[in-house]
Amino acid sequence: MSKEALRYEQLAEELGGLIATGTLRPGDRLPSVRRLSEEQRLSVSTVVQALRRLEDRGLVEARPQSGFFVRHRGLPCSEPCARSTPDSAVAVDVTQRLGRVLQASMQPGVAPLAAALPAPSLLPIAALHRLYSGVARRHPDLLAGSSHAFMDAPALVRQLVRRSLAWGGPLDAAEIVITNSCTEALGLCLRVSTQPGDTVAVESPAYYLMLQLLESLGLKALEIPTDPRTGLSIEAFDLATRQGKVAACLLVPNASNPLGCIMPDEHKRRLARLAAERGVAVIEDDLYGDLFFGAQRPWPIKAFDQTGNVMLCSSFSKSLTPALRIGFVAAGRYRSQVALHKTLSSGATNPITQHVLGEYLESGGYDRHLRTLRRAYEQQVEAMRAAVTRHFPASTRLTQPQGGFVLWVELPEEVDATALHAQALAEGVAFVPGELFSASGMYRNCLRLNCGNPHTPEIEDAVRRLGKLIREGDAREDEQAA
Ligand SMILES: Cc1ncc(COP(=O)(O)O)c(C=O)c1O
Repeated sequence: MSKEALRYEQLAEELGGLIATGTLRPGDRLPSVRRLSEEQRLSVSTVVQALRRLEDRGLVEARPQSGFFVRHRGLPCSEPCARSTPDSAVAVDVTQRLGRVLQASMQPGVAPLAAALPAPSLLPIAALHRLYSGVARRHPDLLAGSSHAFMDAPALVRQLVRRSLAWGGPLDAAEIVITNSCTEALGLCLRVSTQPGDTVAVESPAYYLMLQLLESLGLKALEIPTDPRTGLSIEAFDLATRQGKVAACLLVPNASNPLGCIMPDEHKRRLARLAAERGVAVIEDDLYGDLFFGAQRPWPIKAFDQTGNVMLCSSFSKSLTPALRIGFVAAGRYRSQVALHKTLSSGATNPITQHVLGEYLESGGYDRHLRTLRRAYEQQVEAMRAAVTRHFPASTRLTQPQGGFVLWVELPEEVDATALHAQALAEGVAFVPGELFSASGMYRNCLRLNCGNPHTPEIEDAVRRLGKLIREGDAREDEQAA
């Protein structure tokens, strides 16, 4: 290490020590750069480097024109609260804005905090590669397209039924339809349970793809208040469905996107019962159900369904690889209509992929992979929470996800996350602005961060840059108000 590097490290250590022992307390202003430079007989740039070092460690924060202050560190940000939502259903119009945001966020060199995608390093690509070659070699008939190549693979369906035993299943093999993705499954369920112009109850905030599906089918969204810990409010659902004007309820009860919450079993039971009584079809997206952080696999609403009214959709996009393009729906009493629509829209699902997945599930490889993956996602989410706590303004609120790998961040009231998104892109950082999770334009001061990547120094730096932009914007607001 050079002499200069040693000096700034030493100064950073000394100041860090004063913070650790409480001599310098959260909110205290550090001596100015000039004063530190004179007192320590160090160059101004060495002092600045030391302070930047402390900033990177989340110990101090720079406030424009005011100097460096000790951060309120270690205090986790508090969680957002459920917000009240409009009383009536609204038409949805998010697709164009969303397309622009996601496209811009995928540019090379932009830190991947937008789309909820797992890092390739977390995926069992080598195992899948071996399975694909093996299946293609052992089953040339699948490649030749003989008749059974066009059916749902019985071995895969058997595995899906077997897996459902972990959450109070079993599913009925006869109600399962294999699809090209969870998205396809959700679209099919909406088609068979609604008519254009109908109202669909959704979580608030809701995963934007669900809003897009409603938009494409000419359906209206009724946003139901959703608690960041316990999910969709059953009381609000009860009130909203009394008039009999809601055709379906579309939700992610396990590790929701974007809140990461898991609905308690009692809520799931009540929702299943109420919905059946009121003729509201339940379409649940269980994509993150296998990616829980707790001790046990959470049960889906389907486990509490007594009438065949619940359609359970899922896929392996977040747990194996998004490239697999395979999902399924256990469609209850809607099974035959779902199967018909599936055949008409895309024919059978790729038979080779069905066999690969069936073999992977049967071998136990998937369960072993999941154990590692869940730990990785949990650590990544925790690291992202810590980074946001370090770098974002102290009044930021953020979720405490119980599974999955996205984080929902509520910024100070005056921050416009959509405007921030354009500035952040210019700095090489992407995220999804909160308003895209609402049909009625709520959540302008919120954003969603993808935690699907290992928390490298590059990711930490992207969060730091984002936090800096937010704090600079805040300071400008303060100046204008003064
Ligand atoms: C809740 C939820 N459902 C569905 C999807 C899409 O899944 P698939 O790739 O299987 O269509 C996503 C992807 O982010 C998601 O978060």
